Amino acid sequence: MSASAEAMSSQTQHDKEQSDLDTLLKDIQLLEGLVEAWDDHQRNTVQALIQAHNELNKAAFTKLIRVLKADPAALIALKNAVSDEVVYAVLRYHGIVKPSLHERVESALESVRPYLQNHNGNVELVEIIPPETVIIRLLGACDGCPASSLTLSEGVEKAIKEHCPEIATIKKAKGGITVKPVDDVNVNFISPFAQNEDEDKDWFFVCKLDDVPEADIKVTTVRGNEVLLSRFGEKVTCYQNACAHLAMPMDMGAVYNGILVCPHHGFEYSLESGECLTAPEVQLHTHAVRVINERVEVKLS
Ligand code: FES
Repeated sequence: MSASAEAMSSQTQHDKEQSDLDTLLKDIQLLEGLVEAWDDHQRNTVQALIQAHNELNKAAFTKLIRVLKADPAALIALKNAVSDEVVYAVLRYHGIVKPSLHERVESALESVRPYLQNHNGNVELVEIIPPETVIIRLLGACDGCPASSLTLSEGVEKAIKEHCPEIATIKKAKGGITVKPVDDVNVNFISPFAQNEDEDKDWFFVCKLDDVPEADIKVTTVRGNEVLLSRFGEKVTCYQNACAHLAMPMDMGAVYNGILVCPHHGFEYSLESGECLTAPEVQLHTHAVRVINERVEVKLS
């Protein structure tokens, strides 16, 4: 087959797959609409059936991925497959892959939008430049506001770094649409993050930076929650002291090379990322950490 015929055939195949998926999605929506109209007993039965199928699919995907991950060549193929939006959406639905960087940046922006909107402003994601740069744009009253750099550094930047610790640089793009506030009384040149006493009240001082051991754990309690702190250079991580397997405490576990081994059934966790190395589909419960003037503060999540 010639190269152009091959390209055409592959395009036709792609169009057919897309059309099949569109039909499938419409069918699912239609069926969901029908089930919605049924009585509680019927609806609950269908939900239980769906749940059982989901659990079965999840178990199969998890096993399959574990096997593929063990083979370096298959791992590359797996990563390529996950870049397909349908594969990604299904694995995300089952909680098997973690939220993408794009999703985490969007949820960081979502978390600060209420503050910005109170000031007739907003923010949008312009671009992510891997591996560590995000470009955002301040919109509405925030764009061109004398306090915009404070808004960027104290609000948007902090939120992005909390949700995406791997992001080191956040830049502001120019050219937002300046929305004139409807009511001049609302014009406010104070950054919504300038007076963040309310937000500050959620951060609890836990210890000095020097008290957190490098690549090891320090156990402490924050508002009744037992947490594990760990340090990697300037970066401090904080996890709930609860194994992702059966939620049992892990502070008595052995630590080697920045990896914590649960003393109960041996699950291993990277203290730097919270990732479970034994069962990659689970992760430790993470709390946000900030270090200000050598003071380590934790915000429970
Ligand atoms: S409770 Fe940690 S491995 Fe089972």
